[in-house]
Amino acid sequence: MKILAIESSCDETAAAVVEDGRKVLSSVIASQVSEHIIYGGVVPEIASRMHAQAISGVVSKAMSDAGVGYSDIDAIAVTYAPGLIGALLVGVNFAKGLSYSARLPLIPVHHLRSHIAANYISHADLKPPFLCLVVSGGHSHIVAVNDYTDFSIIGRTRDDAAGECMDKAARAMGLPYPGGVNLDRISTDGDSSLYKLPHPHVEGSEYDFSFSGLKTAVVNIIHNSKQKGIDVSVPDLGASCIETVADCLVKNTVKAAEKHGFDKIVLAGGVSANSRLRKRMTEICTENGWKLYMPELSLCGDNAAMVGAQAFYEYQSGNIAGLELNAFATMPIDEQN
Ligand code: KG4
Ligand code: ZN
Repeated sequence: MKILAIESSCDETAAAVVEDGRKVLSSVIASQVSEHIIYGGVVPEIASRMHAQAISGVVSKAMSDAGVGYSDIDAIAVTYAPGLIGALLVGVNFAKGLSYSARLPLIPVHHLRSHIAANYISHADLKPPFLCLVVSGGHSHIVAVNDYTDFSIIGRTRDDAAGECMDKAARAMGLPYPGGVNLDRISTDGDSSLYKLPHPHVEGSEYDFSFSGLKTAVVNIIHNSKQKGIDVSVPDLGASCIETVADCLVKNTVKAAEKHGFDKIVLAGGVSANSRLRKRMTEICTENGWKLYMPELSLCGDNAAMVGAQAFYEYQSGNIAGLELNAFATMPIDEQN
């Protein structure tokens, strides 16, 4: 089954053709980073306009790169939630138009489910059940993936997402957008023991996260140093910030795996590209004799190949939408459209 998938939830316009959930025939991504960089973050109105300008060309290229026409395609898939509402609507409406004109079924795909599915492309042997740490710019979840379309949330952030925390810390350190990636790069040789940061802990919930206090602590260190005329070492402060985030993510995931009896751990989402998180997770899984799956770096960030992968399983479970499909800025991963 060949699926044409579309993604426009944030600042990448993407389209891909994926066969049977695992084989990527084409994957095209038009990034908007150069447009948002001067604002230090994604401007939703600009994102929507750029998606509208790019989507037709991106979809055409995905079709021609795959060497297919619409008569070869079996379904159209689209990210419909969660994300920036104006951005999502561009993809959803374009997909609806294609579904109507080509008379193809329309498959709505949840963005976080698709991040998890990026691993099905990277690892042919990966099948649920497994425990997944999904960490992106907007979400930080520990999820039991019981089956391809059956999820139970075990832990979640109470405030900021891990990516958001690192993006804001990076911005306070004067690093350009996208903050998390640049923080990762600049902190590789930093000494994480030089700046002491609080280790956030959520009282009464051993799997939940809280990152907003950590972000504030980083900002306070920068302000206090400026007032005293002391230079901040960005690589060292960056390394402390990343180490603290990675520590919280890894420790809670390990507790969840032990308590719920998982020996298969999966990383997903934009933050799964973080070098320290990948290293810490690899070490702890090796120590415990657990199998660890991580998406290849090119599939960690937003792309449409992962949407096509998840769509295959959504279709099999009967999740097909009509032309009344809407986009939603928020939507829990365990809720069906
Ligand atoms: O999944 P994603 O591409 O978009 C959302 O669905 O939010 O995740 C983007 C997030 C951003 O916060 C970005 O800074 C972060 O992932 N990110 C990283 C790295 N690469 C991307 N954070 C830390 N280290 C990285 N290498
Ligand atoms: Zn994402």
